[in-house]
Amino acid sequence: MEMISNEEKVTRALLVSVDTGDYDAEASLDELHELVKSAGAEPVIALTQKLPRIESGTYVGTGKLQEIAALCREQEIDLIVADGELSPTQIKNIESVADVRVIDRTTLILDIFALRARSKEGKLQVELAQLKYLLPRLTGKGVEMSRLGGGIGTRGPGETKIETDRRHIRRRMETLKEELAEVEKHRQMLRRRREKDGVITCAIVGYTNAGKSTLMNTLTDAGVLAQDKLFATLDPTSRALRLPGGVSVMLIDTVGFVRRLPHHLVEAFRSTLEEAAQSDIIINLCDASDEEARVHLQVTRDLLDSLGCGDTPVLTVLNKCDLLDGSPAAQDFNTFIRISAKTGAGIDRLLEAIEANLPVRMKRVRLMVPFSEAGCISDIRSSGTLLHEEYTAEGIAVEAVVDEILYARVRKYAAEE
Ligand code: GTP
Repeated sequence: MEMISNEEKVTRALLVSVDTGDYDAEASLDELHELVKSAGAEPVIALTQKLPRIESGTYVGTGKLQEIAALCREQEIDLIVADGELSPTQIKNIESVADVRVIDRTTLILDIFALRARSKEGKLQVELAQLKYLLPRLTGKGVEMSRLGGGIGTRGPGETKIETDRRHIRRRMETLKEELAEVEKHRQMLRRRREKDGVITCAIVGYTNAGKSTLMNTLTDAGVLAQDKLFATLDPTSRALRLPGGVSVMLIDTVGFVRRLPHHLVEAFRSTLEEAAQSDIIINLCDASDEEARVHLQVTRDLLDSLGCGDTPVLTVLNKCDLLDGSPAAQDFNTFIRISAKTGAGIDRLLEAIEANLPVRMKRVRLMVPFSEAGCISDIRSSGTLLHEEYTAEGIAVEAVVDEILYARVRKYAAEE
């Protein structure tokens, strides 16, 4: 609850959505509810207005706005959160009628991302996205009340005159871009090194709150932060996982997807998601106990497709199956791998599936095989390439090209380099 730690009371929020029929407004509003809670505020009221199109000056209709203003007074609301992107004019107009601070869905998501970013790159990306979004919106109550570490929607630039602010923000944006370019260069270098070393990568992707961090923990005991809050994970975090057959893979935890992820953030996180998309294996994880599980799986699939990873093996994995037992929904999902990251159920099947989808990478090795283990040389002959074989006093000296699975079995004989 860092977000409200320096405020005396919990921010009381009124949520409002205009349903134009362009997307599932109800599901989006439900998610907004979770997002507001995730930011540490209390969603007190949620309203929807059906309109053929957004009201350009005030977002909702004028009658609805009056109703909202009355509710704000009666219910002591501190904050209005609109489930869409608001223009600076819309913010100003709603604020002048309702007399409370107004933010939109994107600002809220940016705030949460700002709280959760852990790596340097993540922090830089979020700050840049925030500034880009805030720059044209430096007007109205948002700015007057704006102070770093304030409350929801105030995690923006400091409180100074708008023009000075703007200049300052532009300069800061330039610095951020330069720093980001450096960090990205470094990351690419690391990736190239991994490729050279033949490291196999497996990314866990999925809707936010699916249990990605928990699965990482269960798989690797890595101690990745797991929380029942949206976006506990913002940056790809990697850990080594040794499979039962002996092959090691690098697991990558990724940022949680969210419905209607603001454009700014899709762009900001493209590079990190692309890295996940370029993995050898992708685990598409979803919370099977969520009514929206099917939609979540599809959102993730679509995003993966848009990142161009059609050829990568994707394992569809249903998590939280401990919450499903006996329910009809459980029958529905029979074709997927079912696990509980919490209890560990099904993890062995997941590990088998990862092993079955390992890419075949060849490695050249020099071995000293003890005479008692000569049998492994026939394995090398059948599934690898035996380049050279020589009987010595210590054992059989072998030079061969093997795949990772075979390598995992013979590495103990590897001659010192
Ligand atoms: P983001 O970082 O927001 O993308 O979330 P995440 O996908 O990393 O989810 P996380 O691992 O933080 O888990 C979210 C919540 O679900 C936590 O409260 C977990 O304890 C809970 N959870 C995870 N796996 C299971 C499971 O198998 N069963 C049950 N019952 N709860 C689970």
